[in-house]
Amino acid sequence: MRSTTSQRAGRRAAAAVRASAAAPAGGIEAVGGVRPEIDAAIAAALDRCITDTDLGMGKKYKGKVRDTYDLGDKLVVVTTDRQSAFDRLLAAIPCKGQVLNQTSAWWMEHTRHIVGNALLSVPDPNACIMKKCTVFPVEFVCRGFLTGSTDTSLWTHYKAGAREYCGNTFLDGMRKNDRLAQNVITPTTKAEDHDVPISPAEIVAQGLMSQEDWDAVSAAALALFAFGQEQAAQRGLLLVDTKYEFGKDEDGNILLIDEIHTPDSSRYWIADTYKQRHAEGQEPQNIDKEFLRLWFRANCDPYSDPVLPEAPAELRSELSRRYVLLYEKITGQRFQPAPLDEEPAARMRRNVAAALEAL
Ligand SMILES: Nc1ncnc2c1ncn2[C@@H]1O[C@H](COP(=O)(O)OP(=O)(O)OP(=O)(O)O)[C@@H](O)[C@H]1O
Ligand SMILES: [Mg+2]
Repeated sequence: MRSTTSQRAGRRAAAAVRASAAAPAGGIEAVGGVRPEIDAAIAAALDRCITDTDLGMGKKYKGKVRDTYDLGDKLVVVTTDRQSAFDRLLAAIPCKGQVLNQTSAWWMEHTRHIVGNALLSVPDPNACIMKKCTVFPVEFVCRGFLTGSTDTSLWTHYKAGAREYCGNTFLDGMRKNDRLAQNVITPTTKAEDHDVPISPAEIVAQGLMSQEDWDAVSAAALALFAFGQEQAAQRGLLLVDTKYEFGKDEDGNILLIDEIHTPDSSRYWIADTYKQRHAEGQEPQNIDKEFLRLWFRANCDPYSDPVLPEAPAELRSELSRRYVLLYEKITGQRFQPAPLDEEPAARMRRNVAAALEAL
């Protein structure tokens, strides 16, 4: 029997993650399938990561990963190479900001038929310009699998006995990493320091959203998620869960804001190996920062040590390779690393200023 395109893509994705026998520091497997010029670009960028920005415009807000410049009616969002986990800065990952910015832009461009979004322009590898919206104070977390390990993750609650979570009911007898009978939304409030799970009924009762807005936004979130899963499957990937944010523009239109389906806002697994590994009780193969988290756990106390050790260059490069691989799989385009002959700060200022002029 001939294999389908998605089966072939799946095998390629799995082979890429199994790949090289040469395990770098920390004992993790290196992904294969990365072109030599990408490896060279990552090596060259190791000491030139973008960790701080100064566009010299608007009011600057510094998030864990992105720097946002508020221009009143627009936002300039710069995605840096900062890597956070345990609620702190862990390391700088070459090319990461560019991958995130361009992956999100690709999804925004390809989901406008489902719901409008705030993206206006992507004038620089690391920056985009967005229409500024009034943000709903809720994060729309969509899940297709019973997984996760943090306080707000579904598996943590299920394991502790909960069968009702954020307005959803779950069957008894499920195992970690099982696919859910259907996709669900497990919203959280956008609280100051940590996210709190909440149900749709509470969201409306507390006046965070009207019922009408909830109905429209939750339908859009589930439609985006189903589309994302379908597209990911065609590329040999499982889009396991993700988080969306929505807002309203000055005309009252509901728009997708923030980022979409990036490796920072989403969990992706390799489809081809999921079934067998899951049947054997192994964790799925993933494209994310888990191995970096494990390295810090093994080498310090990332929750309380005031100063963290420096992550080995091999680990930083490896995470970079995984992010680039994901970008290329999703978009079907070759990753074009930003040239290093110009200071990123000057480049971004020039590109953003020109785009603002033209808007
Ligand atoms: N188009 C938009 N209009 C208005 N606000 C937006 C838009 N896009 C994103 N935002 C908001 O900008 C902020 C970006 O913050 P960012 O994600 O960088 O950091 P954070 O959410 O505070 O923390 P974290 O680093 O944990 O994500 C978010 O509060 C998000 O809701
Ligand atoms: Mg955020």
